[in-house]
Amino acid sequence: MKIVVASSEAIPFAKTGGLADVASALSKALSAEGHEVSLFLPYYPQSTAKRGFSPDDFEACPEKVMIPVGSKQVEASLLKASFPDSKVNVYLIDQPRYFDRPELYHENGRDYQDNCERFIFFSRAVMEFTAQLNLQPNIIHSNDWQTGLIPALLKIEYQHRPGFEKTAAVYTIHNMAFQGQYWHWDMLLTGIDWKYFNRHQMEYFGQLNLLKTGIVFSDMITTVSPTYAKEIRTERFGYGLNGVLESHAERLVGILNGVDTSEWNPEIDPHLAAHYSVDSLSVGKAKCKAALQERMGLPQKPDVPLLGAISRMTDQKGFSLILDAAEILLATDVQMVFLGTGDPRHEAAFSELAKRFPDKVATFIGFDEGLAHQIEAGLDIFLMPSQFEPCGLNQMYSLLYGTVPIVHEVGGLADSVVDAHEENLENGTANGFSFWHFDATVLYRQMRRAIAAYHDKPLWNQLIQNGMTKDWSWKQSAQNYLSVYQRASSYRNKSSE
Ligand code: ADP
Ligand code: GLC
Repeated sequence: MKIVVASSEAIPFAKTGGLADVASALSKALSAEGHEVSLFLPYYPQSTAKRGFSPDDFEACPEKVMIPVGSKQVEASLLKASFPDSKVNVYLIDQPRYFDRPELYHENGRDYQDNCERFIFFSRAVMEFTAQLNLQPNIIHSNDWQTGLIPALLKIEYQHRPGFEKTAAVYTIHNMAFQGQYWHWDMLLTGIDWKYFNRHQMEYFGQLNLLKTGIVFSDMITTVSPTYAKEIRTERFGYGLNGVLESHAERLVGILNGVDTSEWNPEIDPHLAAHYSVDSLSVGKAKCKAALQERMGLPQKPDVPLLGAISRMTDQKGFSLILDAAEILLATDVQMVFLGTGDPRHEAAFSELAKRFPDKVATFIGFDEGLAHQIEAGLDIFLMPSQFEPCGLNQMYSLLYGTVPIVHEVGGLADSVVDAHEENLENGTANGFSFWHFDATVLYRQMRRAIAAYHDKPLWNQLIQNGMTKDWSWKQSAQNYLSVYQRASSYRNKSSE
């Protein structure tokens, strides 16, 4: 198949969260299966520079297109890059006025005011370059609100143009909480006729909603875990779009993300102080724990349980629960490490905690990928009590790194972490701890349970073993996407008959 993937971020070029890992890993996995994959993302020169790229790492393409954005015509040019270990064609769409900024979406807690315009431009440019490069895709796979306009552009403007005769739209929702909702006059920026601004298509309570647009116009909709696919059809998790999803339920599929094991593998991870595998765990993991304690300025105590989290510091990720539970837990002999950025309230609270307990808690406010790898390897217990979690990647990284997760039983956390209760221990599936009531005392009890298990070495080893030996790679997930692509193509063919 010929597949175009559109994403607002992709590692190693730009990343704020899991979408970046998934866009690249899925593209590589599909390409490894023999498919022709072109991945489009914006060119954020400040982000690529921070990530160690020089402008020479990108090859300028001769193609240029003019993109209508409202009444303006804005030029888009194209840079080409590649992954070192894959045949995926990576295209970065260049327009400094929109993308030459310190961050991807917001600065100092404030969204860029022209985000709607920036990503309408990007979505249109993906379509136009797909035409110019004559990619003739079977599938255009877009992701999240930033590229929600793409399925609408395909159906309304492109599907009868040469090169798009067979193209079906697949749309993946990574998080219902971010919908790209803007005031109705932004409809003018899309260049799409007002007749589509109605409650069945692009409008939501008087506003333009780009996530809804993606859902409504695509041939197949996916989200990033089977449990989240069910949850988002309910009021509690649907963020107002549960009704829309319910009415498109037969086209909605949940596929659990995999792990890019060329990035996340304790046997070869270049960020670690020592390497280890499930068969040679204890020495290497102990070295990683000591190195982490040293780097974070904590006393090097090998036998004290080390708990922690790496995350966007937002309410979604359960930081208020962690804070309240930590307050009680810190009366005992434990250490904790936190890495994150986000809500200034959470940043301040966790920095304060580290000041109050300098021998027990270390907090690093910032985005640091090397440190994220070192924390995954150095911790004993990973905390991920998210209020909701479409998939979540860190709990899977933890499982692969022999770090036992404690999770709230929602979304992808429920689909990957198996609680260590008796039955699951007996049938050999238990790999962590999970709880249902979203409450700090419940989380605290799980922490105590996990620490008791940590001191019971045979039990602990079994949990680690179960987590590390399961196949978390992208192989199966990529197959599931391919079946979705087949279904999308058959819907596309039916609708054009
Ligand atoms: P989400 O996409 O909702 O933020 P995921 O668990 O899917 O959550 O993915 C988050 C990704 O971002 C992981 O790869 C995680 O390691 C990384 N990450 C989050 N915060 C930081 C940070 N402060 N420093 C480094 N990596 C981070
Ligand atoms: C979103 C979700 C997260 C998911 C990631 C990648 O950011 O919040 O749960 O893992 O997308 O799909």
